[in-house]
Amino acid sequence: MSAPKKLYIKTYGCQMNVYDSERMAETLGGQGYVETKTPDDADMILLNTCHIREKAAEKVYSELGRFKGLKAEKPDLKIGVAGCVAQAEGEEIMRRQPLVDLVVGPQSYHRLPEMEAKAGAGEKVLDTDFPEEDKFEKLKRRAKAKRGPTAFLTVQEGCDKFCAFCVVPYTRGAEVSRPADRILREAEDLVERGVREITLLGQNVNAYHGAGPNGDMTLAQLIWELDKVDGLERIRFTTSHPNDMMDDLIEAHGTCAKLMPYLHLPVQAGSDKILKRMNRSHTAESYIRLIERIRAARPDILISGDFIVGFPEETEEDFQATLDLVEEVKYGTAYSFKYSTRPGTPAAERAQVDPKEADDRLQRLQALLTRQQREVQDSMVGRELGVLFEKKGRFPGQMVGKSDYLHAVHVADCDAEIGDLRRVRIVSSGANSLAGELIT
Ligand code: SAH
Ligand code: SF4
Ligand code: F3S
Repeated sequence: MSAPKKLYIKTYGCQMNVYDSERMAETLGGQGYVETKTPDDADMILLNTCHIREKAAEKVYSELGRFKGLKAEKPDLKIGVAGCVAQAEGEEIMRRQPLVDLVVGPQSYHRLPEMEAKAGAGEKVLDTDFPEEDKFEKLKRRAKAKRGPTAFLTVQEGCDKFCAFCVVPYTRGAEVSRPADRILREAEDLVERGVREITLLGQNVNAYHGAGPNGDMTLAQLIWELDKVDGLERIRFTTSHPNDMMDDLIEAHGTCAKLMPYLHLPVQAGSDKILKRMNRSHTAESYIRLIERIRAARPDILISGDFIVGFPEETEEDFQATLDLVEEVKYGTAYSFKYSTRPGTPAAERAQVDPKEADDRLQRLQALLTRQQREVQDSMVGRELGVLFEKKGRFPGQMVGKSDYLHAVHVADCDAEIGDLRRVRIVSSGANSLAGELIT
């Protein structure tokens, strides 16, 4: 038998890309590839890219440039670009970087084996279609292969919301939900392979409406089905849109023990004028009322968010409204970004905010969010939490896991194994993690 070919995948962007990379690697496993951790000994390099902000997209070209030497040494090396830059820029990638042999958009991953074969025969191949067939059914799984205790599982993909700043509706396509039975089968397979926690993924995961046995199901109904899977201990989901936060999902946060008390619910801005121009179709007030309802169902839930500062026409007063909203909500964690102009999106045409002003706002917002994040993390000290252990720590005998609220927790002299869910008393809070001791 010939030696296996080696595949190096580098993943940028969101969790969905992490999931997709795993599925691509498993699918290419069927073509005789095994994964390698370095590009140096690879027969195929795949960059799974992100187009969300200008910097993210530009990184891809600088990374590609670095493979020039490798390709010169090894002319058979195939270089591919997958993900959202592939979808958005298509042929332009091969024009800008002739080293690239293969370009594949997120909806065509199941066609990778054929594409790989063509690339192997020396052809340049590109596929950025939005085909009708179900790619998830055609992407291979590596049956029974053991894996770590946490996994992502895409249940919904694409977006019909068209926020004025965002490329996702163009790069991922229209919103599509996977049928529930396929998701359940995949979840059961993951659990058999050692997974204890599943994070359901979708660009608008709470808009999930996949086919079930009695018509379309909501995300909450899907979660209740997953709740029945033996051996699965924790369920999470991301990312949600405020407008799709249905009553049954809010209720599930209060009643489903496997559903973790953590909700990523991006608001983007606190000024109604800006929210309207962003095409967000919620107001600051409706968002705050929603958070109140969620906290009524699950008082300790940790709220996470995304923010954009310096959106076109944002004034100091508008920005102040974002700070006010943050003060009111109290985020346990948050991601904040300076607005980045994305060609082809409606906001790209509008009057831009002075970049220095935007930098200043970002710093002020991040200072506030960091303070809140620290307060929430510090408030865990003294509490007894569930921790799912994921890996060994840096010191002998130390183990690291995640709490119910997704904080990293270090435990010294720990007899827990990877994959164990144990009760831990939190004893201190550090810069980015908690320390605790097992409650025996
Ligand atoms: N589907 C998710 C998020 C998609 S992108 C949702 O709807 O919330 C992740 C985050 O990137 C967004 O929430 C937004 O805060 C940020 N983002 C998207 N486009 C951006 C742009 N053009 N400039 C800066 N940040 C952006
Ligand atoms: Fe982008 Fe808005 Fe869709 Fe989120 S809801 S993916 S921010 S268009
Ligand atoms: Fe980036 Fe595409 Fe995800 S643009 S954030 S990789 S959906």
